[in-house]
Formats: sequence, structure tokens, C-alpha cells
Amino acid sequence: MKTIILVIAAALSAASAFAQTGRSETILKEWEFRKGHDIEAKEGWEAVSVPHDWAIYGPFDKANDLQTVAVVQNGEDVATEKTGRTGGLPYMGKGAYRRTLDIKDDELDGRRHILMFDGAMSEAQVFVNGEKVCFWPYGYNSFHCDVTEQLKEGSNDIVVLLENREQSSRWYPGAGLYRKVRHITQPQVHVPVWGTYVTTPHIEEDHAVVSVRTKIEGMEKGSAVTLKTRILDNDGQSVACVTDTRLLHFGEIEQTLTVENPALWSPENPVLYYVETEVYSGGSVSTDWDMDRPEISIADGSVPCDKVCTRFAFRTIDIIPDKGFFLNGEARKFRGVCLHHDLGPLGAAINKAALRRQLTMLKDMGCDAIRTSHNMPAEELIELCDEMGFMVMLENFDEWDIAKCQNGYHRFFNEDSGNGMIWAERDMINMLHHFRNNPSVVMWSIGNEVPSQWKPEGLVVAKWLQDICHREDPTRPVTCGMDQYNAVTVNGFAEQLDVVGFNYKVDRYIPAYKLLPQRIILGSETASTVSSRGVYHFPAKLGAAIMHDDNQSSSYDTEYCWWSNIPDNDFAADEDYDWCIGQFVWTGFDYLGEPSPYDTDAWPNHSSVFGIIDLASIPKDRYYLYRSVWNRTDETLHVLPHWNWAGREGEVTPVFVYTSYPSAELFVNGVSQGVRAKKAADGIVPCLGEKAMERFRLMWNDVTYQPGEIKVVAYDADGKAVAEKVVRTAGKASAIRLTPDREVLKADGEDLCYVNVSLVDKDGNPVPVDSRLVKVKVTGAGSFKAVANGDPTCLEPFQQPQMHLFSGQLTVLVQAASLPGDITVEVTGKGVKKATLKIKTE
Ligand code: GAL
Repeated sequence: MKTIILVIAAALSAASAFAQTGRSETILKEWEFRKGHDIEAKEGWEAVSVPHDWAIYGPFDKANDLQTVAVVQNGEDVATEKTGRTGGLPYMGKGAYRRTLDIKDDELDGRRHILMFDGAMSEAQVFVNGEKVCFWPYGYNSFHCDVTEQLKEGSNDIVVLLENREQSSRWYPGAGLYRKVRHITQPQVHVPVWGTYVTTPHIEEDHAVVSVRTKIEGMEKGSAVTLKTRILDNDGQSVACVTDTRLLHFGEIEQTLTVENPALWSPENPVLYYVETEVYSGGSVSTDWDMDRPEISIADGSVPCDKVCTRFAFRTIDIIPDKGFFLNGEARKFRGVCLHHDLGPLGAAINKAALRRQLTMLKDMGCDAIRTSHNMPAEELIELCDEMGFMVMLENFDEWDIAKCQNGYHRFFNEDSGNGMIWAERDMINMLHHFRNNPSVVMWSIGNEVPSQWKPEGLVVAKWLQDICHREDPTRPVTCGMDQYNAVTVNGFAEQLDVVGFNYKVDRYIPAYKLLPQRIILGSETASTVSSRGVYHFPAKLGAAIMHDDNQSSSYDTEYCWWSNIPDNDFAADEDYDWCIGQFVWTGFDYLGEPSPYDTDAWPNHSSVFGIIDLASIPKDRYYLYRSVWNRTDETLHVLPHWNWAGREGEVTPVFVYTSYPSAELFVNGVSQGVRAKKAADGIVPCLGEKAMERFRLMWNDVTYQPGEIKVVAYDADGKAVAEKVVRTAGKASAIRLTPDREVLKADGEDLCYVNVSLVDKDGNPVPVDSRLVKVKVTGAGSFKAVANGDPTCLEPFQQPQMHLFSGQLTVLVQAASLPGDITVEVTGKGVKKATLKIKTE
């Protein structure tokens, strides 16, 4: 609540200063889009709203970006047909966006005009009134172009041309202007984009020092400039201020402020502060601040030339050899997940409500950290991480100068970007300047499993990239996700990094720890366990690269890839070694593309099954396994599998329980199957395979199936029964049940409600084995946005208001309109009672 009040207050005061100074920011939503680069074409333009992903509308087709390759990282040396590797969606080819920008005469009097792109996929060329103003090849990075000289009074034509080459990605990259585009105007004398850098060089309990470096442009070198800077706390109160008049010799002014009793930011208590700076040309301004008033008092009535507001926070990060990672002086381990950037049925088109939904689910799981694999994120994600409390390992590249994909980023890495730097450095600088004030970002990662790990030249590139991070932001450590254990531990690659990050290799953490000078290990990418929600295969076998006839992976959470493992091994490493600083699980959510192990000639599989949560945003069983270990405040008691096994009566059907309680007893139709307790660590390391499972799961491996009910009773440490859970065999499906994730939406034209659709029998028991078609109708103050069922083999479009259920469920995304009111959602299916739901928007 406090944050909201502050944001409104900050927005109001910023708005008045903007009006005074000529600084403004407009999000450019309405564009026209056309496939191809023929911008003279009269026909074929379609009105679209940006963020926009041209490829998510499909149709899915095996021929889309069909790659015949040997995936070297996966140990392959013979090329085979990789079906669905990039999602089977038509992201490849060219696309054009156009719109006009109206400029009034007085807007051209000395102001600068900037077009700011948060991400354009990819190889973006921007034209203003027919003149090319910039080119930015990397589709994941933010970039901006100054278009002042090209603008004229009246209507201006803006065109953006994009191109995605085939074989340019290992996953679904999305296509188009998939993040927001802004028109920013800056006054003559101004702070440029990303021109403020806030650090906190000294933090103690009773005071902290804040350093604010502000770049100033538009003034003669050596002229006088006055900066009035103050710090606002989470409630919008001024807590420190300073006014400095200096001569601008180096384009930048540094100011120092002291804040008494700073509140510290952490995932559990994400307290934010703001730095607000007013820029005055000259030096004749008053320095008498009134701490109680949000307005700025200027004695001589002069108005600021510019005013900017930057979010930051107080927190310390330390990595201590042998001891681990410390946030604010307290040792903790990353309970993190890797996230690709797509939002399932929304594709790559960014939506803040969808990101908030992801983070809300991850928070409940006990997750406290995100790795932006393997590219720069949308700024909305990082803002939410600041606000909701997630530590971020912000990563940039999946390729340096050596190819993983024929047309990947390596084509640009060493290329001259036209301003004296190669693209790699330009991309690094944009990333670092964009995100170095965000408190959630605690570490940079300079790459993921880059083939350069093998080569002597790779060491030089790694050092160069790490040095750029240190130069632009000396406050955060740097890592790199390494998978070539044998090479990097002896060739110097791992040795030079601030943080040793291993992808998988949990069985080799101990020798790596002993060999390398850092004496700490991060699981930069872990697990890659595979499972399809609600699908169980018998017998439940623990093993790598297991494949089934239905092209699904088992939800017993016992299947993984040959290079990876089950979650239990990583939990054990986190518990057993102080010097292991935690992990980032591959992955929090399923994503489009990379359907391992069904990636070779296995169409229609086209999305991953690595996710802890599926593509429809529904938790898999694994969610509760992580929750039982990671969520330190709420209890977990989850039973699997479902209990509808007609035809398997009398057959062995193991029952697993994922719980935060130490032991539990299982009853099948009232008959006890015995008590199971979690095994204690026996001191033998590494703790792998079944031995690890016994520490983190309760398992009854010999249960025989009979219809009825399974009940699990959980016991606390004193053996007292404290919780129970029942799973029943369902009868015939009789009705649809709708469960929204939220009751009230914001009437902003963007907010989303995720409505879970499931089937129940006449007694209300979930029917988890049904796959009938359901149809959706949304009326009132909102609209149908998308539908998804989480089935990696399903080729039905996300944008049609109908879909088959997968394991008895799917998710409908409903979007709020801009005017408040009621939304009605109706879902029907053959042979079952329809369901209706009302959602409010305000
Ligand atoms: C890793 C890689 C990820 C993903 C994952 C699948 O090696 O870094 O991008 O491919 O494997 O297990």
C-alpha cells in the first residue's frame, strides 16, 4: 500500500516538473504491422497494439524453423532433425511496423527527442521520415535513438523494420516489437537516458551513505549547474537532501547524501527508496529545503531545467570464500529459478500482469531469486523483482563469438557497431546502465554455456566481459553459467570469475570447490527434471532420457536429461555444503521450444517440460516439492498421483508425498500403508539419486491401486497428527469449475485474470483424466485474451476461445477493458454443466 501511495505522489510531482521542463514520456502503443519489408505496399497492414508478437498467432507447423543439427552442448555429434526446437511458430522472416508521431512547433525548440525500444526482435532498423536513425541487432536488449534532427513540425513517419533469421535461436524468441516503445522528450539541458547512477558505498545500522552520479547534457563544458537532490523513503517522505552548484567539466556531477537509520531491502522486506534530482542551469538557487513538504522551494523563483527520479535501495552483498553468500550480513542460499522470457500463450509480448502472476506463484513456492536466462529482461520484470522481493542474476548472452546456432548472436559479437565499439560492448553497456540501479539485481552473468569455455581465446573474452561489468558497476559480482567442467577447471576460465557458476555437475561440486580459488560454488543452472502435469508412467523409474509412447514425461519427478538430475540432489548440495551458495532451477515455468527429451523427430512436441509450472501457469507436482523445502513460512502437504486408474486395479501404483512435515502415514481406503519419515543426512557426500529422494520425499513404492480414496496424515516432530489430505477416485464428470486467481482487476486495458477451468464429478471431486473440448465466452468490461492447457503436444491456437483440457484442466486469460465494470466468463463443455464467473474491474 505504501508503495502505491509513493508512486502516485512521485508521479504527480514528476508530472508537474515535466510540464515545467519539457521532459515527457509517451508509450507508443498503436502501430500498423505488415509481414515483409515492403513499406510502400498499400495493402496488408494490420492495426496492432505494441507490445506485439507477430508469431504467437501461429499456426504451429513442424516446418517452421525446422533445424537439422547436432546439439553439441547436449553431447551430440550427428545432426538430426530437431522438431519444435523454437516452438514450431512462424517467428522467422521479415516484419515492418509503422505509425505517425505528431510534433507541435514548440516541441522542437531546443528539446531532444528520443525513441526508446525496450526490445525489438530482431536486427531492428529505425527510420524517421524516411531517414535511417538506428540499427540494433540484438533482439533482447534495450536501445534508444535520438531522432531530434529528423523530426519536423506536424506528422512524422516512424518505421521499424525487423528480421529474424532461421536457426537463430535454441528456443522460441518471439518476433516483433514485443516490448514497449516510448517517445521521450528531454529539455535542452537534461539528464540523458540511464544518466543517473546511485550506489550505497557505506551502510551501517544507524546511517548510510548514498552516492548519486548524474550525467548532464546540453550545456557548455565548464558552465555552472546546480543539482538539488533528495532521497524519498518508501512512504514518499524526504529523508536526505543536498544542493550542489558545480562547474560541469566532465559531463557528470557526483553528490553524496547520508540517510539515518536506513531500512534494508531483502526478498522478505523489499523496502525501496527514490533519488529525485532537479537540474538548474546556473548557480543561483536557494538551498533551504523544507523537509516536510514534497514540493521543492526555490527562493528566487527559478524553475528546474530537468527533473529525474531513480529507484534504489539499501542492501549489502558479500561473497565470502568457504562461508557463502551474504545479504545484509546474513548467509543465505539462492532459492532461484531460471526464466525464459516468453509468457506461454501470450508469447514474447510483455504484459506486467502476466509477469506479476509468475512472480506471485514463485513467491508462494518460496523462491527468492530469478536468473534471466539467457538474455536481458524486460524492465517490468526487474521492477517487479525490486517491489516483490526477488534477487536477480541478470544474464546477457547465450553465445559470444563462437556459434551455438548458425545465425545466432555470434554474427554480431565482434562486429563494429559504428561508434568505435563492437556490438558486444555496446550491448553490455546498455544492460549495465539500464539495470545497475535496481536493488533486486545482485549479480551479473556474462554468458551461458558459451562454446568459448574450451578455447584459450575464450578466457580473454570472459575477462574482457567481466572487466566491463567491473568498470561500469563495481558493486556486483560476476559469474558465467559453465557446463564444460573438465575444460574450465584447468584452463583458467573458471578461476578468473568472481563467482564460479556451474550448470548441473552437482556430483562434481566438491572437486571444483577444492580446485578453484574462489572456494564457493553457485548452481547457476540446476535440475532440468522433466515432467508433464498430471501424467504418470508406470513403473515409476528414476533415470535419464526416459521416453514414453505418449511423448510426455512422468509427473513422479524421477526423469531428467543425461546431463541433469532430480531436484533432490540439488537440495542436498544446498544443505550439505556451506560454500554452495544456492541454485537457479531450470526452469520456473515451461516455455515455448526446446521440448527435450522429445526434441528429435518428435513433432508435435514443441514446448518444454522442464518447468516447475506448466505453460498454462498451472503448478505441476514438482511445485510442491520445491515449496516443501523452500517455503519457510507456510506448511506444504501434497499427494501424488491422482487416484483414477481404471484398468490398473491391483497394480503397483506408488504414492509420493511432498511435505514440509517430517513424517506422515498413508491410508488407502482406510487401511494404513505405514508411516514414512524423511531420512536425515548421513554425512556421505555427494548425496545423489534415491538416497537424496529419501531425504526430501515420503514414498510408498508398493501401494496397489484400488479405487476409493488415499489419505495422508502428517505428523510433526513430536509425532502429533497435524494435517491431512485426501485424494479420491472421481466419478463421471458432471460440471465445470472455474477458479480465478484474482477477484478484482484494474480497469487499465491490460490487467489479466487467470481463470483455472477444471472438471468435477457430482460430489465436487476433481476429474483429472478428462480431455474434452471446452468453449469460452467473455462479455462485459473485459475480453478473452488467450487459452492454454499445458500440453506440450497440443497444436490448438492460444487465441481461439476453445481448447481441449489437459489432465482435466486448462487456463483462460481474461483481460480487463479500460472502463470499470463487471466481466462475465462462461465456459461450456459437452455433457457437463456449464460454469459462469463474475470478475470485477475498477
Ligand atoms: C542447459 C542450457 C539451457 C537449456 C537446458 C536444458 O544446458 O543452458 O539453455 O538448454 O540445458 O536442460
